Amino acid sequence: MILSENNVFLLENENLSYMFRVTEHGNLEHLHFGAPVQLGDADAFSVKYGTGWGSNSGPEGEEFPMYLPLEWSGLGAGDYRESPTEFAGEDPAGFKFSHYKTYDGIVPMSCSLPQAKGEAETLEIVLGYIGGMSLHLFYTLFETAITRRAVLYNNTDRPVTVTKLMSYMLDIQGEYEITTFNGSWIAEMRPYRAQVGLSGIVNESTTGFSSAMHNPGFMLNQPGANETSGEVMGFNLVYSGNHYARIQKSHEGLTRIVQGISPVDFEWELNPTESFETPEGVMVYSDKGFGGMSRAMHKFINEHIVPKTWQYKDRPILYNDWEGCMFNFNESKLLSLAKKAKKLGCELFVLDDGWFGERNSDKAGLGDYDVNKKKLPNGLSGLQRKLSDLGLSFGLWFEPEGVNPDSNLYRAHPDWALHANSGVTVLGRNELLLDLSKKEVRDYIVENVSRCIDDGKVSYVKWDMNRHSTALGATAHKCVLGLYEVLDRIFGERPEILLESCSSGGNRFDLGMLCFSPQVWSSDNTDAIERYHIQYNLSYLYPLSTMGAHVSAAPHSQTLRDTPLTTRGNISFFGLLGYEFDLDDLSSVETEEIMNQIEFYKEHRHVFQFGEFRRLRAPEGMSIQVSDNRTTIVGLFHELVHAAPGYERIFPEGLEARKTYSVESRKQLLNASKFGGLLKFILPVKVKPDGIVVRTAGKKYRMWDATQACSASGAALMSGLSLNARFMGTGYDPQMRMQGDFSSNIYLIKEES
Ligand code: GLA
Repeated sequence: MILSENNVFLLENENLSYMFRVTEHGNLEHLHFGAPVQLGDADAFSVKYGTGWGSNSGPEGEEFPMYLPLEWSGLGAGDYRESPTEFAGEDPAGFKFSHYKTYDGIVPMSCSLPQAKGEAETLEIVLGYIGGMSLHLFYTLFETAITRRAVLYNNTDRPVTVTKLMSYMLDIQGEYEITTFNGSWIAEMRPYRAQVGLSGIVNESTTGFSSAMHNPGFMLNQPGANETSGEVMGFNLVYSGNHYARIQKSHEGLTRIVQGISPVDFEWELNPTESFETPEGVMVYSDKGFGGMSRAMHKFINEHIVPKTWQYKDRPILYNDWEGCMFNFNESKLLSLAKKAKKLGCELFVLDDGWFGERNSDKAGLGDYDVNKKKLPNGLSGLQRKLSDLGLSFGLWFEPEGVNPDSNLYRAHPDWALHANSGVTVLGRNELLLDLSKKEVRDYIVENVSRCIDDGKVSYVKWDMNRHSTALGATAHKCVLGLYEVLDRIFGERPEILLESCSSGGNRFDLGMLCFSPQVWSSDNTDAIERYHIQYNLSYLYPLSTMGAHVSAAPHSQTLRDTPLTTRGNISFFGLLGYEFDLDDLSSVETEEIMNQIEFYKEHRHVFQFGEFRRLRAPEGMSIQVSDNRTTIVGLFHELVHAAPGYERIFPEGLEARKTYSVESRKQLLNASKFGGLLKFILPVKVKPDGIVVRTAGKKYRMWDATQACSASGAALMSGLSLNARFMGTGYDPQMRMQGDFSSNIYLIKEES
């Protein structure tokens, strides 16, 4: 509900509230963002200004803006904190309250920026500017989030150059820690936590994209907050380009947060009558710790960000040929893989890079769309028909924003590529980026991608983008707007196509892309243990339904880690399961284990993809949980094991204390060869630890790990379910969990009727 009385505005529902008021001099004083409160609480929150501080300045006879918690501000009139607005040669201060409007639902933008949709209410606050500009602040209230954005109108008779315009600004009071998520290719989402102090913290990308270097999402928490208690706020931006956020506390104890498009090299000429729209910022709040905040964010994304057709819709289990084949495949190899994928239980076959032009390595062909007839003599439609006969749907990889200099497209239109201002050719993965601010470039992409999709009756598209940009500022922003237009033109007409976005993995994991593609390839790092951490850290801000997570080969190509197949599957369950390695190399035991994995995942797919997610306490390992009304699934994972392991328990959450539940662990096959020379103690024949018998046993001999089943009350389970003992070399007991490095178990907890 949006309420307003005596110049106080309150957006509130049962989960959160946001309140501010108009001061007598037309400034917007921020009052509260947090737990539900009432309009009458305004005075309780309002700062008690007294006679103010000594070194102050401000418009004559008015409050000193430096000391007010504000909703908007600007340099030049006494507020020396971070300014959300800057104009070349003009004063950004002086925006004062003019009037407001409320709307049922969202207020659509007029540019191609995506925005949250669905059931909502919106408050529009109009600020007038002495010079004749007006700034419209939009606040939209959703069930578990508030979004904010700013639109600047040039009502003057002269052009204005905007050099900075944030999406939102707010000043909150209290002690906070901040967590940002940083990294690189195959090292996405590494958390960095720091105290919010008097020196500002900046979270920014200038790569042209939201980037794996600094994800736009971040969190603020009260010191001491944990997974289940304490106040935590989550912030994000519905944008895929250069972004910027700065968080800084003032001496007086006000923490200013701004977020929006990066101002680096930004100059946007705004002519009379024109407006400039900023991307939407997202804020969620929970007093139930990081877990509560994550669940609020997950619900918001699942219900208001991802395309409507794919909201809570089960995603297919896919096979992708990339890590198994790279550029080296032909139709018969693909069909051999497809037959095996089908037998395992996969539903979708994705043909990745290398199917077009002279694309036999990453050095050539990008930008061209003619099918490589040496690899696919029957074209896309021929392959699709054969896949369909096998009972598989067809997915296809594209990288439409890139172009290799060695391509027909570049030879014909070198001017379509973006070049560094310096004139130096700056290549990334041997490619340049196309200038999507150009209409002819956008038309070329829309026509060609649409043709291939329609020709191949494609039901899934992987939309990749594999380099950083050389463009900054307005050019970079225009390319992002161009990309959104292209995505809308292609997929708006084809909502049944499942789009998975990718950018060398998680280089563009953001809410802007999620408005078009309900899922993102989380990382090119497919080492299960590494990706457990990437998925875990993504889970703070993004739901499991958005995380492409495939099982890949072991030893792994990036880490040489030999993670058990069971764990590789168990980790991918907590995301969107897929398989990505050469299936021709599978042994019969591995085939059976994967068939079991897929069967299990299919049975519980909806809860894995859309259930409530929790990060659990796990004194001995790492543990996460998904649940719906009837089913709770707990994953327990280990990295390096120690000798003489102690007793171990899992701690599921969210069960009803008095109800009775059955617990069952997933049946898992073991690789017998991992026991090496120990086998000689249980086999009747003499074997060498590295000999053929042991190796063959690993491939052919079915050896089940212990399972555990019991029934107990919710109260008992939540206070810790005692697990079967772990292997420690003192003997063999079939009831023991044969743990070793990187082992894991999955526990299925069901309410007994
Ligand atoms: C990127 C993607 C990979 C794969 C390759 C193909 O690296 O992240 O998954 O599609 O491109 O070139």
